[in-house]
Amino acid sequence: MTDTDLGAALPLPVASADFADRLARRRSAPAQSLTGPGPSREEIERILLLGARTPDHGKLFPWRFVVLGPQARADLAEKLLPLADAQPGADKARKVLSKLTAPPLTILVIASPVDSQKVPVWEQHLSAGAVCMNLEHAANALGYSASWITDWYSYDAGAVELFGVREGELIAGFIHIGTLAEAPLERPRPDVAAITEWKL
Ligand SMILES: Cc1cc2nc3c(=O)[nH]c(=O)nc-3n(C[C@H](O)[C@H](O)[C@H](O)COP(=O)(O)O)c2cc1C
Repeated sequence: MTDTDLGAALPLPVASADFADRLARRRSAPAQSLTGPGPSREEIERILLLGARTPDHGKLFPWRFVVLGPQARADLAEKLLPLADAQPGADKARKVLSKLTAPPLTILVIASPVDSQKVPVWEQHLSAGAVCMNLEHAANALGYSASWITDWYSYDAGAVELFGVREGELIAGFIHIGTLAEAPLERPRPDVAAITEWKL
């Protein structure tokens, strides 16, 4: 799946007030509020293609996707219930499973580092995180809302096995995608001046 030829000249960026404005007011969705419609099969393929178009030192592609529809997630949530009960704060652990089951579509991003003399695993993980963000942008570009969630089942050994995570891999995030009935509200943002050193 690719929509550009290898070695093809790609367009240089052009200033786009609309693009900048959308980035300035972009907001994730509360996962449990995501409903249908979700993306079609063709739209999912497009979102994956755009998400995979992410900087990655050494062209290692150290990440992979699992596309999870509603039934697959309902089945997984059922299997996660006993594991939720074993968590500290079992009630909350059970409750957050609604974030996993509510949205029409979920793309699980698995960080899958590759043996490399040149590229540290840390950089490969950073690339997996960037893929998650690009998937959110891609979903937004197609008119859907999205949410990047981890929750306890990204870290519990039994849970990650259920999701098919292999030795050496980590869950980078569940990217939930769908439609919001109500606009999300702005949240606190960092004081950029306070975290920025200028050395022009
Ligand atoms: C790596 C990562 C993990 C996250 N895990 C969770 C989570 O477990 N539960 C949750 O409610 N939100 C989780 N979030 C989402 C954030 O709580 C919040 O929705 C998001 O940062 C909002 O960003 P935005 O307003 O810039 O879109 C996670 C976000 C990131 C980047």
